[in-house]
Amino acid sequence: MGRLIALGVILAGLLSAFIGYRIVELRRIALSSRELHQNHLPNCRAIKGLEYGSEDITILPNGLAIISTGLKYPGMPSFSDAPGKLYLLDLENERLKPVELRIGRGFDVESFNPHGISVYTDEKDLSVHLFVVNHPEDKSQVEIFRFVEEDSSIVYVKTIQHDLLHSVNDIVAVGPESFYATNDRYFGNAVLKQLEILLLQPWCTVVYYSPEEVMVVADTFYSANGINISPDNKYLYVSDILDHSISVLERHENNGLSYVKSVPVGSLCDNIEVDGDTGDLWMGCHPNGGKFYPYNPEDPPGSEVIQIQNIHSEKPTVTQVYADNGSMIEASSVATPYKGVLLIGSVYHKALCCDLK
Ligand SMILES: *[C@@H]1O[C@H](CO)[C@@H](O)[C@H](O)[C@H]1NC(C)=O
Repeated sequence: MGRLIALGVILAGLLSAFIGYRIVELRRIALSSRELHQNHLPNCRAIKGLEYGSEDITILPNGLAIISTGLKYPGMPSFSDAPGKLYLLDLENERLKPVELRIGRGFDVESFNPHGISVYTDEKDLSVHLFVVNHPEDKSQVEIFRFVEEDSSIVYVKTIQHDLLHSVNDIVAVGPESFYATNDRYFGNAVLKQLEILLLQPWCTVVYYSPEEVMVVADTFYSANGINISPDNKYLYVSDILDHSISVLERHENNGLSYVKSVPVGSLCDNIEVDGDTGDLWMGCHPNGGKFYPYNPEDPPGSEVIQIQNIHSEKPTVTQVYADNGSMIEASSVATPYKGVLLIGSVYHKALCCDLK
């Protein structure tokens, strides 16, 4: 009996030493002690009506931004019990007034919990397909809608669920019904998702989905977050948020990917937007991930926007374009330029539109 107790004490000691060590590791990875200096842009104004997050934003070539709001995600702050929504914001109109996208019949709006979004424009009929990662009741699925610009609405087309799409964070559409998606966790279960962070294993994947074929096309990510594609459709970019880097992957004829390189960014970067003209990458990043748990409104997570130019060259240029300690905007998750302005969104906070210097 005495021996068993001794063994129990030793095991408990080892377990707490392991957890203690992992917590120190996690604080390092979350950049918990990083100091952030204000680096503001001119003429920043908050977009009225977007108070509960603007987690992902995608801008159509005509200046219409589609914005996902109201994300509820295990472990993340959220300040509204209302279902998530999608908004449309016309950047060509000075008033910057977001309009809620009406969702046509056949879709459960009550449980809508939109996360990453992406659009695909059909070359044949110019129809715009909107892909939305959705987490109704903590599930993981992808919704496809058709965007109807004339009356600011979307028509529900279909829901995609698959075992390989178990913890989807973001997607990039490459066809009317095909896309690449990132999994930010290995587990699908909400409790295991939080515990797995303690293990810090490179178990996360990128998955290719089409109605004909579903496959893992890249793996060994600690947490694969934002994903996007180069203007020539030849490369994918994936943010490994816990590795503080952006991976460049080459796309092959069979939709498989091969690893090219990783570009360090020194921050926990969330969504990636790609400038269609220059090919530059723009990321909304979390400069101090430690401030998410526990959330303290007196000392909130700050925001950081990072741009990468010439990513395919020997020496890509990584620039901090914007930084704020949380007094202007907390937890920036996306940033995307349009004709001299920069739209910055957040996981659970407001959205800002700033002039670029
Ligand atoms: C952010 O920095 C400003 C100074 O620019 C300071 O007044 C404010 O208290 C800081 N806020 C936080 C939350 O640290």
